[in-house]
Parts: sequence; structure tokens; C-alpha cells
Amino acid sequence: MLATITLLLGLPLALATEPPSCAPLIPITFDNTTIPRLLGQWFYIVGATRYPPYLPELRAAKFSAFSFSPGSREDELNVTEFIRLNETCVGRNSKVQVLQENSTLVHVDDNQVVSMATLIQSNKDLLILNHINIDSPSLSLSARTHNVSKEHMEEFKAHLHCLGLTEEDTYYTSIKDSCPPSGEKTGEGDADPQLE
Ligand SMILES: *[C@@H]1O[C@H](CO)[C@@H](O)[C@H](O)[C@H]1NC(C)=O
Ligand SMILES: *[C@@H]1O[C@H](CO)[C@@H](O)[C@H](O)[C@H]1NC(C)=O
Ligand SMILES: *[C@@H]1O[C@H](CO)[C@@H](O)[C@H](O)[C@H]1NC(C)=O
Ligand SMILES: *[C@@H]1O[C@H](CO)[C@@H](O)[C@H](O)[C@H]1NC(C)=O
Ligand SMILES: *[C@@H]1O[C@H](CO)[C@@H](O)[C@H](O)[C@H]1NC(C)=O
Repeated sequence: MLATITLLLGLPLALATEPPSCAPLIPITFDNTTIPRLLGQWFYIVGATRYPPYLPELRAAKFSAFSFSPGSREDELNVTEFIRLNETCVGRNSKVQVLQENSTLVHVDDNQVVSMATLIQSNKDLLILNHINIDSPSLSLSARTHNVSKEHMEEFKAHLHCLGLTEEDTYYTSIKDSCPPSGEKTGEGDADPQLE
């Protein structure tokens, strides 16, 4: 009797209850506005994963600035990145294929597929990449400037929480380790680098 009431009362509740704090990760469906949205300069802010092959680089990356420019094909972007791995600033060139048919970004370095990701709906000045085809959730946040607002950071952390990723799985970069393109002066320690 009690069980039945509980069941009757519980059922509509259960149907109505969606975890309110877990906004779904909605991938952007690519169209002809996708590439223009991606072009230009970005700062990699934070990444989280438990996927062992990604860990050495996430741990070592103290800072990364990258830019997307048109590649040799219309569905391809050239990527120029300056990354500080531990103490060392490294410049790297790679490519991203923008697959319209399944809204997937494929990162290619030296003709090898490095990773695949979908782009999560968010503010237009943020780039939230959800790495796919691996057996651990893996999310990264990049932005047009390195100083992401508290609200956007909280939104990103909420996504991590919902994916079961914790602070221990999360690796931050710092503007203090900024790594300007070669040929530019380093400037004062606390100045914002204006890369172009
Ligand atoms: C982009 O796609 C929309 C709808 O598919 C089309 O109307 C528009 O002309 C396209 N723009 C360009 C620049 O190709
Ligand atoms: C993109 O990079 C390739 C080398 O990876 C280079 O040959 C090509 O010229 C670049 N494209 C543009 C438009 O800069
Ligand atoms: C960065 O430093 C860690 C710890 O010293 C080391 O294990 C790792 O191999 C280094 N990574 C790179 C890319 O230098
Ligand atoms: C998207 O399509 C490409 C081939 O067009 C394929 O290699 C890739 O695995 C697909 N990605 C997903 C997530 O299905
Ligand atoms: C973030 O940085 C940009 C460019 O460096 C600057 O224009 C903006 O005022 C900064 N915003 C905050 C909240 O510090």
C-alpha cells in the first residue's frame, strides 16, 4: 500500500526530474559560419581529462596561444601555436579539418590524426572542445583573451563536474608563463601580450 503510493507519487517526480545543475553538452552543428567563427587568435585556458595519452602534454602545458588561419582547402584550417611546455616555449604548426558532415574537428599533425573534437555551444568568444573517440571524457576551454570571466569559468567547471571530472583531472595555464611569438619582445611580466 505504502509502496504503491510511493510509486504513484514517485513516478511523475522521477519523470519530471532532470539533474538541474547538469546542462547537456550541446555540440554546434557546423555550417558556413563555423570557420569564420574559429578564425583568429585564441588562448588555451584549461583542460581536463583522464585519458592517459593526453596527460603528459596537459601537465606540461603552462601556456598556449594559437591561431587558426585559412588552410589550403576550404574545409581545412592552418594552426599556429606557441606553447610553453614546462620551461620551454615551442612553436608548432598543424592543421584542423572541419568536417561539416558530422560537425567534427579533426586535429592533424604531420599527417597523423592527433585528436577529434566537437565544439560545444557557448559564448562566441569561447571555444569549448569535447574530445571524442576516446574512453574518457575530455574537455578544454580556450578563449579570445586569457582572462575568462568568473561566470564562464563556473559554466565550464559545471560541465566538468557533470562529466565526473574533478580538480585533480584539471590543468590550468597561466598568463604569467606567456610565450610570445618569436621576434616579439617579452615585455613586462604582468603585461597582457597582444598577439596577432
Ligand atoms: C551560408 O548558408 C546559408 C544557408 O545554407 C546561405 O543562405 C548563405 O548564402 C551561405 N553563405 C555563404 C557565404 O555561403
Ligand atoms: C598552411 O600550411 C601549409 C603547411 O602546413 C602551407 O603549405 C600553406 O601555405 C598554409 N596555407 C596558408 C593559406 O597559409
Ligand atoms: C615536463 O616536466 C615533467 C616533470 O619534470 C616531465 O616528466 C615531462 O617529461 C616534461 N615534459 C616536457 C614536454 O618537457
Ligand atoms: C566523422 O566523419 C569522419 C569521416 O568523414 C570519420 O573519420 C569520423 O570518425 C567521424 N566522426 C564521428 C564522431 O563520427
Ligand atoms: C581582459 O583582457 C582584455 C585584453 O587584454 C582587456 O581588454 C579586458 O579589459 C580584460 N578584462 C578583464 C575583466 O580584465
